[in-house]
Amino acid sequence: MLTIKESLENTVTDALVQVCGIKEATGQVIYASRPEFGDYQANGVMAVARQLRQNPRELATLVINALSGNELIARAEVAGPGFINIFLSDDLLAAKASACLSDPNALIVPSQHPQTIVVDYSSPNLAKEMHVGHLRGTIIGDSIVRILEALGHCVIRQNHVGDWGTQFGMLIAHMNSLSSDKRALSSNLADLEGFYRAAKQRFDTEPGFADQARAYVVKLQQGDADCLAAWQRFIEESLQHCEEVYNLLSVGLKRNDLRAESFYNKELPNIVDDLHDKSLLTESDGAQCVFLDEFKGKDGSPLPVIIQKSDGGYLYASTDLAAIRYRSDNLGADRVLYVVDARQSLHFQQVFAVSRAAGFVRQNCKLEHIAYGTMMGEDGKPFKTRSGDIVKLRELLAEAVLRAQDLVTEKNPDLSDSEKALIANTVGIASVKYSDLSKNRTSDYVFDWSSMLSFEGNTAPYLLYAYARIQSVLRRLEEESIYPGDHIQLQQSEERSLAVKILQFAELVQLLGEDCYPNQLCLYLYELSGLFMKFYESCPILKSDADTRRSRLALASLTAVTLKKGLNLLGIEPLQRM
Ligand code: ARG
Repeated sequence: MLTIKESLENTVTDALVQVCGIKEATGQVIYASRPEFGDYQANGVMAVARQLRQNPRELATLVINALSGNELIARAEVAGPGFINIFLSDDLLAAKASACLSDPNALIVPSQHPQTIVVDYSSPNLAKEMHVGHLRGTIIGDSIVRILEALGHCVIRQNHVGDWGTQFGMLIAHMNSLSSDKRALSSNLADLEGFYRAAKQRFDTEPGFADQARAYVVKLQQGDADCLAAWQRFIEESLQHCEEVYNLLSVGLKRNDLRAESFYNKELPNIVDDLHDKSLLTESDGAQCVFLDEFKGKDGSPLPVIIQKSDGGYLYASTDLAAIRYRSDNLGADRVLYVVDARQSLHFQQVFAVSRAAGFVRQNCKLEHIAYGTMMGEDGKPFKTRSGDIVKLRELLAEAVLRAQDLVTEKNPDLSDSEKALIANTVGIASVKYSDLSKNRTSDYVFDWSSMLSFEGNTAPYLLYAYARIQSVLRRLEEESIYPGDHIQLQQSEERSLAVKILQFAELVQLLGEDCYPNQLCLYLYELSGLFMKFYESCPILKSDADTRRSRLALASLTAVTLKKGLNLLGIEPLQRM
């Protein structure tokens, strides 16, 4: 199956090749920039005309003649210096929309080249509790995973949690001094963030504690059984905290998806050996480093990627090299996506370059850093509590639900408590997720409760409400035994615009699978709801004849299905009533 855009691209390309005889010519079909220019436009003629030194408008006319009789195209016109404006056939649009009614899966067109795609996302550091800094990676990654799966790719989630390193020595030392009192330990661990702070405080101030902590790191690395048991206990506790957050966010990361940093420990000596064998290692101040020409410091001096410190310890980059090799060779990835903070961009450029140079990754395996910006407070600095503490994700989400609860109570005081709670939960969590996902991921953004909970604009409450409203119309008519038909007719321009937009959903999802910008999906859903509102205002349902009424209800129902699918790809389950 192909999307409309793909079919047009093929059709115009064939016509162009037939007319000009150049096998490499392509149609270059894009969306029309304005409705009066049609639905799509083809730009491929100009390059060919230049190459053949022909008049582009004449060539375009020949192509249009060759297109005649195509069932997709109602009409095509030469425009400007040699563009072709394409107007789709209403009958074909109606038929395609009707086909989606009977099989909503047809709203998404699977990729013609399914791949194995590894997505590294969320990946918090387990020494501390998940905080707002982990929100973006977790939900952007989750949305990308949903999109890629919907396109038929084989997606392998990898939660590359930080569970190793010197911090854990400090935490184990603190645990061990509490463990004489089992209950005290459990209750202390329940507040993981507080636990970390207490340990750090002792590390910084208590005589002897830092040495103790360092001794524990060594013991841990040597595989000391008691130490490993304490470490495991801590990791388990921390993972449960993460899972609580994943559940709140409906993020589908499971234990199976964990590939913690420690998983790669046994591979690290091999990484060093292999880099050495490939003559990529240089000793610098006792550390083993890779210097690559493309990485230079500000002053032009070479920038090292440190692989092993002088004390034998490994670094974040060393583990990532082992992880790349594992993903390429063991998981068989065609593509690896790293959904990680933009501030780690140099790290990934270096790690990708070193793995290419060392042959740790198959040549046809693509590595991509899906970078995201920082969530800021109103003061323009990374989001913190008033007292300057880090905001725990659990607490942020709980607050979102409380605020949504107030909103629901204010709008709908008559709902039962359980209904209010259900709506508040959905609206609260969806608002936090949506407000984040609707921002271009590469930019920083300011976290703002009032705009995310607004019923106006490109927000979760607006979209959830739009969906619930369509459902309520369908329910109301169903009570009068009026049901959607199975054929959509496109009589008015508002119906046509809505149908075109719905059919373009498949094209958008394909694009998202390539460039991984969920904000485009948010914008699409917002525009779709806008087109629905226009349709709903100007195309009466009840007051029209039976056929038209059934067609309009069908179009409304198809809009709802599309909205729901889109929201699901963002990790949001819409409500039937609001
Ligand atoms: N644990 C890291 C952090 O909290 C993120 C890990 C991202 N993934 C990776 N393969 N490096 O910053």
